[in-house]
Amino acid sequence: MKQTYGPASIKILKNSIEIGQYAAEIIIDTIKEKPGAVIILPTGSTPMPMYGSLVRRFEEDKTLDLSGIIIFNLDEYIGLTPDHPLSYSYYMNKIFYEKLDRIDKNRAPKINNRHIPVVNKGESWAKAAKRYEHELDSAIRINPDKQADLVVLGIGAAYPVKNRMGRYTGLEGGHIGFNEPGSKATDGTRAVVLTKKTRMDTAFRFLNLRHCRETFKQQLTFEVPDHAITLGIKNILQSKKILLLANMEEKEPVI
Ligand code: PGA
Repeated sequence: MKQTYGPASIKILKNSIEIGQYAAEIIIDTIKEKPGAVIILPTGSTPMPMYGSLVRRFEEDKTLDLSGIIIFNLDEYIGLTPDHPLSYSYYMNKIFYEKLDRIDKNRAPKINNRHIPVVNKGESWAKAAKRYEHELDSAIRINPDKQADLVVLGIGAAYPVKNRMGRYTGLEGGHIGFNEPGSKATDGTRAVVLTKKTRMDTAFRFLNLRHCRETFKQQLTFEVPDHAITLGIKNILQSKKILLLANMEEKEPVI
């Protein structure tokens, strides 16, 4: 069956705070309309104000109940433990889940409904990716609409690339999840090699981490991982609504 898509629209907002508020309202509307919504969420700097806004709304509005929603994260590095401060698992816990739990555990998303790709001990990366896709597919199967209700995405920065003659030859970067340009619409959840560009984009975070290593009790890796597990474009396109957030000038060429 040929899949059809609704019209895409672009909304230009003033700053990252407005982007966050706008995205949070779309998430809240989705949940109010459907308390058991399946929602796919991103990490990164762009969505931080969105999580901040959601936490604030959760604190103010006691009728906002997130206990029925099922959350899947888009991606996760391979090789970082969940307590590594730059893992996406840590990100979600610190800026979202732990804050919601502190406000009201009963209304916060249930622990079992907080999904993120992990490679279990002794498991191959391919198997871990398939298992994660299976978890998403199972949640979608029991969802009355048979699709995820909303996916929120960020997009990697992209820069124009020139050849030796100085001629513009295309763009480098611009990943969605960890799907780099050239990924196919049929690509499912899989382990991917991170490109040099993608690793360079986050290298500063790993470098900065060295300055605060005393804060963390565990042994820290300062190397940018070279692999990750990501939901594929196929998984993303299965959603009912797709919201892609972009902030800062370096996102302009790819948008
Ligand atoms: P950023 O990352 O929001 O930190 O720029 C976006 C992404 O890489 O998807």
